[in-house]
Amino acid sequence: MTQFTLVVAATEELGIGLKSNLPWRIPKDMAFFKKVTTTVPRSVRAPNVQNAVIMGRVTWESIPRKFRPLDNRFNIVVSRNTSYNLQLEDDEQQHVKLVDSLETAFSSIDSSKQARVFVIGGAQIYRLAMQHAECSHILLTKIKSKIDCDTFFPEINNNIYRLASHEELEDYVEEAVPEGLQKYKDLEYEFTLYVRK
Ligand SMILES: NC(=O)c1ccc[n+]([C@@H]2O[C@H](COP(=O)([O-])OP(=O)(O)OC[C@H]3O[C@@H](n4cnc5c(N)ncnc54)[C@H](OP(=O)(O)O)[C@@H]3O)[C@@H](O)[C@H]2O)c1
Repeated sequence: MTQFTLVVAATEELGIGLKSNLPWRIPKDMAFFKKVTTTVPRSVRAPNVQNAVIMGRVTWESIPRKFRPLDNRFNIVVSRNTSYNLQLEDDEQQHVKLVDSLETAFSSIDSSKQARVFVIGGAQIYRLAMQHAECSHILLTKIKSKIDCDTFFPEINNNIYRLASHEELEDYVEEAVPEGLQKYKDLEYEFTLYVRK
């Protein structure tokens, strides 16, 4: 099975969601998410090669219709309902796959067509994904402000993952990343990376 990365933004209490949506809107974090999940690493860049994003059905529905499927990425949606209607246009079908387990999501990755694999939430899917030894990286945007949440990211086990340096984060994403505390309106946040030891 191929290695994969979790991408998440969470408060210090590990809050990630409220009422089936994101509890905040931070344009630069959304841009970071898009850039990181879209960019194919230089070493494997080739025509028809994209990254894959795996998400739970609730997270899929939280993406506004006009932004889904997430463009330039192969979208995999996990639901127990094998007849779930993804409501896709004909030209969108080839960019999305519905699967009934996370294992099927991973096994449906074609490494000749999909480079990096990102698990993009939500809580139920992060919890399942974190149990896999192939979960090699966690890109965590730490939201330093107190925000009301009803959905939580699982605790990161320090025996399994270590906080990487900022240089390692930039090496991983292959570009410069703003370092230290960032501000947007009344919110403070920081881009971080955890790697499997
Ligand atoms: N802050 C962040 O970075 C971030 C990122 C992503 C999402 N979020 C937030 O997280 C929240 C959504 O998280 P969530 O935990 O409620 O939902 P989720 O993980 O997105 O999706 C849950 C759904 O996945 C399917 N599923 C779960 N376990 C499964 C299994 N073992 N086998 C097959 N299918 C399975 C089920 O779909 P069916 O019910 O269809 O069977 C389940 O209802 C929202 O508030 C969203 O905005 C935050």
